[in-house]
Amino acid sequence: MEFRKSLKQAYYIGIMSGSSLDGIDVALADFSSSSPSLLHTLYLPYDQSLRDQLLSLHHSENDELHRAAMLGNTLARCYAQAVSNLLHKNKLKSTDISAIGCHGQTIRHCPQLGMGYTIQLGNSALLAELTGITVVSDFRSRDIAAGGQGAPIVPIFHQMLFQNPKVHRVIVNIGGISNVTNLMPGKEVTGFDCGPGNLLMDAWCLRHTGQSYDENGKWAKLGTIIPSVLERLTTLQFFSLPPPKSTGRELFNMLWLESCLSGNERPVDVQATLLQLTITTIVKSILINFPDVMEIYLCGGGARNGELVSGLQVAFLGKKVETTDTLGINADWLEAFAFAWLSRQTILKIPSNLCSITGAKGERILGAIYHA
Ligand SMILES: Nc1ncnc2c1ncn2[C@@H]1O[C@H](COP(=O)(O)OP(=O)(O)O)[C@@H](O)[C@H]1O
Ligand SMILES: [Mg+2]
Repeated sequence: MEFRKSLKQAYYIGIMSGSSLDGIDVALADFSSSSPSLLHTLYLPYDQSLRDQLLSLHHSENDELHRAAMLGNTLARCYAQAVSNLLHKNKLKSTDISAIGCHGQTIRHCPQLGMGYTIQLGNSALLAELTGITVVSDFRSRDIAAGGQGAPIVPIFHQMLFQNPKVHRVIVNIGGISNVTNLMPGKEVTGFDCGPGNLLMDAWCLRHTGQSYDENGKWAKLGTIIPSVLERLTTLQFFSLPPPKSTGRELFNMLWLESCLSGNERPVDVQATLLQLTITTIVKSILINFPDVMEIYLCGGGARNGELVSGLQVAFLGKKVETTDTLGINADWLEAFAFAWLSRQTILKIPSNLCSITGAKGERILGAIYHA
């Protein structure tokens, strides 16, 4: 009985809502054994109205503090509903869960201002109140306070799951923004944000087709890459900056995209060009920084875009390019799984930033705790 109780102490829930603004990924994880297991998952898509409200908070507008606080409450209710569904489906009670790791929804990410800041919405006090479960959130601020980028922070989880003592691997997470983690045998883990993953493709697709994303890259496949536009896009200074670096919608948004267009392009050709931009920036990031990599594993929603995956496979000819599914971790759930694990690190008071990636001046315990 005591054994069973201690097992339950290792149940954690991770909640991820990333920069794609597609919705909420929830993962129930068990960390009672040396190899973490993902027990159950749940996805709650955002409706267009919620997505629009979140988008409008990415820049300064009327009464934004009030609107951000109210939207934080809305998100907490959505997160709590998702947790309740997950518990119900698994016949678990809130007291069975050690903690929820809730990333929150990023609306501003400005680490580059020196002592900058990052803001993830989602009222964690309310989430703890509604679920009766301890909530860990605000995972990025401490790293930024220590001089880091506050991102990417999942690479330490990639390292734990995927580092191989003999094979040089790179993990590519293709969310709204894409980021790479370099796992070289016997070497310090490195990595950085490479640029846009899905967010520009999603926004352009929504505007011109009414669909929130280009399923499997089918629409992009009908277009022709416009070399002059691709060149204008890729000359953005961010791409040539050395790591550490992280980014978000501050840089990669529709205004920037429009500034690189003449307005006479066929929408389908722009979509093909945006798909190529994601491929090119990932490929360059890897070939310039980690040319000897043998195996590349993709995760995040972009790993489900067949055109994107085959474009990467062609560009990396001679190297293995697969999704993390091949390594036994479903590419769709890796980030939510990671936030479950990161919350456990916080509860156990173990640092989880990698200074070699974020540039912080030291290891830090990440996150703020709202006790049950
Ligand atoms: N079948 C698919 N075809 C093309 N794109 C897809 C597919 N499935 C997911 N995506 C893309 O993945 C995005 C969600 O990825 P996700 O990893 O959740 O990103 P984030 O962490 O930024 O929320 C969607 O917005 C969409 O662009
Ligand atoms: Mg998402």
